[in-house]
Amino acid sequence: MSGAPPDAAELAALARARGLAMNARGRVSPNPLVGAVVLRDGVVVGEGWHEGPGLPHAEVMALRAAGEAARGATVACTLEPCSHFGRTPPCTDALREAGVARVVVGCLDPLERTRGQGVRILAEAGVDVAMAPPAEEVACLELNAAFVTHSVRGRPHVLLKLATSLDGKIATAAGESRWITGPPARALVHRWRADHDAVAVGIGTALADDPDLTARDVDGPVRQPARVVFDTAARLPVDSRLVRTAGEVPVLVVAGDGAPADRVAALEARGVRVLRVPGPPADPAAGMAALAAEGIQSVFLEGGAQLAGTALRAGLVDVVRWFCAPMLIGGDRAPGAIGGEGAALLADASRLRGVTVERVGEDILVSGRIVPLPGVDGD
Ligand SMILES: NC(=O)c1ccc[n+]([C@@H]2O[C@H](COP(=O)([O-])OP(=O)(O)OC[C@H]3O[C@@H](n4cnc5c(N)ncnc54)[C@H](OP(=O)(O)O)[C@@H]3O)[C@@H](O)[C@H]2O)c1
Repeated sequence: MSGAPPDAAELAALARARGLAMNARGRVSPNPLVGAVVLRDGVVVGEGWHEGPGLPHAEVMALRAAGEAARGATVACTLEPCSHFGRTPPCTDALREAGVARVVVGCLDPLERTRGQGVRILAEAGVDVAMAPPAEEVACLELNAAFVTHSVRGRPHVLLKLATSLDGKIATAAGESRWITGPPARALVHRWRADHDAVAVGIGTALADDPDLTARDVDGPVRQPARVVFDTAARLPVDSRLVRTAGEVPVLVVAGDGAPADRVAALEARGVRVLRVPGPPADPAAGMAALAAEGIQSVFLEGGAQLAGTALRAGLVDVVRWFCAPMLIGGDRAPGAIGGEGAALLADASRLRGVTVERVGEDILVSGRIVPLPGVDGD
């Protein structure tokens, strides 16, 4: 890298660029979220972000906004500028043609085959290039946890959300689970659904709750996530809300390879896409890989306990967001949040890192990461 480390104004510009990138949250997949800021003598003269596939990249939007002021300026961008022709020309060309003097890069391209190329091309063209310090680099990678995980691991990034009582129950012994959390928590859940390519549940939840799994009452434009049911024997009823609305918002069923052909055919006839994986139960890792092959980069996993348990044990849960409601349900038969075998030893328990705790209405939200992002924490 040729350049001096980023100064305070450039670091502030990177943080601003991350915020700009988030303007397109939930809509850019399969592309990454990217933001860019053009600085002249420490003053912002242009800003931009990538709005989605086929549309100009963030650097190009920011350069357009800056106009002639971009000549000799610094561009801070959250992701390494691309150096290849995709649906749009390379950003490295746009930066050179605009006469930019310096580029501050949040993180390198996660794709092995193109990683470092943009930075090298710019440096060879005489542009001063600086990389963000580690904390900012991690923040820029986290912005694209889905893109990075899908690119490097060949599976979607999985965020497990659960809502429990203070005593860790997800439903009463009689099966009632609506609503454990209050309206502010439920509003956040709809926002998070909209941020993901897919929302997934196990067939137990689909049968118990007959959910829509759509993102509702979310501010701004929303691209509805696909709805996914892990359902080994393809038991999802054809008159369920999910199947009845499969023509409006895609529904995918991850079924075992032994699922009865007539049930699979009945679902497919109603527009449900059935993905066959080894089972029973439907292998969660193979299921996630099959979803990745469908172009799904991020999965918002909403339980229930059985599916959450096998996904956790298979090391597929990247991030946990856990609502805890100030109520006690009690009862030996009321289900806990995570089913299956669980960990025999505390050393084998899934441990959250980077934990945050916040109040959401009456509820408490605990969030943390389980699986380190590729390239972070020595992974
Ligand atoms: N409070 C909350 O946050 C929350 C969230 C979700 C659900 N819930 C409640 O939880 C209850 C349902 O939970 P649940 O644990 O019974 O059901 P679940 O986890 O939604 O579904 C379990 C079923 O999914 C199927 N499955 C397919 N692939 C699987 C895999 N890889 N691992 C595990 N299961 C797989 C299995 O049936 P097959 O063998 O037939 O495929 C299994 O019996 C409902 O009462 C619901 O309201 C609460």
